[in-house]
Amino acid sequence: MTTWITICDTCKRDDWSEETHERPHGVDLAELIEAAAEGRDVRTRRVSCLMGCKQGCNVAIQAEGKLAYTLGRFEPVAEAAEGIVAYAEMHGASASGQVPFRDWPQAIKGHFVTRHPPLPGAED
Ligand code: FES
Repeated sequence: MTTWITICDTCKRDDWSEETHERPHGVDLAELIEAAAEGRDVRTRRVSCLMGCKQGCNVAIQAEGKLAYTLGRFEPVAEAAEGIVAYAEMHGASASGQVPFRDWPQAIKGHFVTRHPPLPGAED
């Protein structure tokens, strides 16, 4: 089951201002994640706001019938994007969506915000 990375493209971190930034940080992170996901076994999509605005940049990791996660507090940098994509691939390879801590990419540690169990009857 392919895992989706849903990226908030309207997130602005605390240092964002109209004078210094032309677009939201979320757009920068979305582009980096989309580039990192090229040719990998994950899908991406953008949404405007995941309602975690105070801890942007935010992404959600989801696949049908599996644990779903929200991760936040990312800077829009390539290392974060690579870590998110690598983690999403491991989520996709896991039957439950759970990935052992020892396998987590360093870039995602400390970024988990929420975990959502699959709906009843939706588990594999
Ligand atoms: S703007 Fe990104 S979570 Fe609200």
